[in-house]
Amino acid sequence: MKNLVILSLLCVLFSACKPVPNATDKQVITEQYRPHYHFTPPQKWMNDPNGLVFYEGEYHLFYQYYPDSTVWGPMHWGHAVSPDMVTWEHLPIALYPDSLGLIFSGSAVIDWQNTSGFGQGGKPPMVAMFTYHNMPMERAGRNDFQYQGIAYSNDRGRTWTKYAGNPVIPNPTSIRDFRDTKVIYDEARKRWLMVLAAGNHAQLWTSADLKKWTMQSKFGEGLGSHGGVWECPDFFPIVVEGSTTQKWVLLQNINPGIPNGGSGCQYFVGDFDGKTFKLDPAFEKNVQKGQAIWLDWGRDNYAGVTWADVPKSDGRRLFIGWMSNWDYAQVVPTKTWRSATTLPRSLVLRNTDSGYRLASLPVKELEKLRRKTVNLPAQTLRDTLVDITDKLGFSPAVSEAIIELEFAEGAKTDFSVLLSNAKGGRYVVGYDAAKNVFYSDRTQSGNTGFSDKFAAKIHAAPRTASGRRVQLHLFFDVASCELFADNGTLCMTEIFFPEENFDRVSIGGQSGEVKITKATWFSLE
Ligand code: FRU
Repeated sequence: MKNLVILSLLCVLFSACKPVPNATDKQVITEQYRPHYHFTPPQKWMNDPNGLVFYEGEYHLFYQYYPDSTVWGPMHWGHAVSPDMVTWEHLPIALYPDSLGLIFSGSAVIDWQNTSGFGQGGKPPMVAMFTYHNMPMERAGRNDFQYQGIAYSNDRGRTWTKYAGNPVIPNPTSIRDFRDTKVIYDEARKRWLMVLAAGNHAQLWTSADLKKWTMQSKFGEGLGSHGGVWECPDFFPIVVEGSTTQKWVLLQNINPGIPNGGSGCQYFVGDFDGKTFKLDPAFEKNVQKGQAIWLDWGRDNYAGVTWADVPKSDGRRLFIGWMSNWDYAQVVPTKTWRSATTLPRSLVLRNTDSGYRLASLPVKELEKLRRKTVNLPAQTLRDTLVDITDKLGFSPAVSEAIIELEFAEGAKTDFSVLLSNAKGGRYVVGYDAAKNVFYSDRTQSGNTGFSDKFAAKIHAAPRTASGRRVQLHLFFDVASCELFADNGTLCMTEIFFPEENFDRVSIGGQSGEVKITKATWFSLE
C-alpha cells in the first residue's frame, strides 16, 4: 500500500514535470504538408543547413532560421540533434544576431586538439564559423558588409559564446557576396582549411587556430556554371569507390542557374596540394564554356553541405540539403512554417566512363522507418498504368519504393509512377526511354498557383548510366519526392502541394511496353 502511494505520488510529480504538449507539437501531427520523416523547423522560416557536425553520438543540424516570420528575415542559427539523422530533437536557438550583424550560413567543427584555446576541462570545444551580414553597412551603400566570425560551445552545442576578436576575417577587398564558410581539419597538412564563396569564385583559406586565417588560393572563375551567385561551398577529400585513390570535391551551390530553374548545386572533382585545387583533367573538360555537373537534377535541393567529424570507422561523407528553391521558397503554401531539409544522403565518388561523378545514396538509417513491405510480382505492362493502391494496402503518400525495369533494345516507351488524389491532383515521376531522361511532373499536382515559376514545365534529367536495366529508388513524404536512380547515379528532389494527400498510386507505361523485373514498396512511419 505504502509503495502504491509513493508510486502514485511519483506519477503525479512526474506528469507535472513532463513538458505539456503545446500547439507546435500538435501541428507536427496534423498540419497539411508537414512531412512525416523529413526535418522541418517547429515553426517559422528555415533555409540552409548549417554547422553540420557529429559529436558524442549526436548529429547536429543548425540551420538558417528566422523565428519571427514564415519568410526570410534577420538570420539566427536554429538547432536540432539526432542520434541517426532520422529522428530529430529540437533545441533552443543557438546563435542570435549581434552588433556585428545577422548570422548567415557557416559550419562547425570539433577542435580536438584545442588549437583555438576555447576548450575547457580537457574537453575539445565545438567551434562554429559563420558569416556576419551587417544590414546598416549594407544600407549605407558599402560593399564590405559581409565578414566572418566564430563562436564556441563547451557543452555539446547547447550554449555558445561569440569570440571577442570577431570578425576573424574582415572583408578588406569589399566583395559584396563574401560568405558561407565551411571548415574542415586538413589531416595531411595538420591545419584548418576553409572554403567560402566570393561572388563568382570560391576562396580557400587556412589557419592553425581557427582565429588567424590566410588566403591560399581562388578557384572557379570561368569554370562551371555562373548563371547566378556562388553560395554555400563545401570542400573535402573523398576516396574513390572501390579504390584507395583520394580526390577532392568542391560542392558549389549557385543561385540561380540550374538547368530546371532557380537554385541548386554543382560540383567539381580534382586534387588539392594544400594550397590550390586543380581539376581532374577529364572533369575539367566537362565544366568549360558554362557547362556544369549537377549534384541533383530536381529543383529542391539547395545549400546542401556535409557533416564534419563523422567517425573514421563510419567513413561516410554525409550530406543534407534545403528542400526548396529561392525561386518560390518564401511563397509555398505551408502556413506555420516554411521548408524542410532533404533526406540525409551518403555521397560516393565513382570513376565512370565520363570521369569522376558523385552518386547520392539515401542513408541506411532510413530503413528504420519501414513498416509494411509489399513485393509486387514481376510483370510486363503495355500502354497502361495499373492502380496498385489496393495491393499495397497503405497510402503511397508516405512511402518508399525500389523498382527495377528492363527495356527492350531501342525502346521508345516510358515508365511512370503516378500519385493521385480524389481532387484530380497528379504527380508523376519516371523514366522516358525515348528521350533517355528521368522526369518529375508536378504541373498538375494541386496547389501550384502561388508562383508562376513553380510548375510551369516538366523537369527532366538526362540519364548518365547506360544499359537497358533502369532502377528507381523513390521516397515520398506527403509533399515531396526524392528519386535516386541507377544506384544513386542521378537524383531528383522535388516538392509539391496536393490539395489533399496523394492516396492512390499507379505504375506502368503510358505508351509502349515496360518490363518490371522487381518492385518492392514500403510504408514508412
Ligand atoms: C543561401 C544563402 C547563403 C546565406 C544565407 C542567408 O541560401 O543565401 O548564401 O548565407 O542563405 O540566409
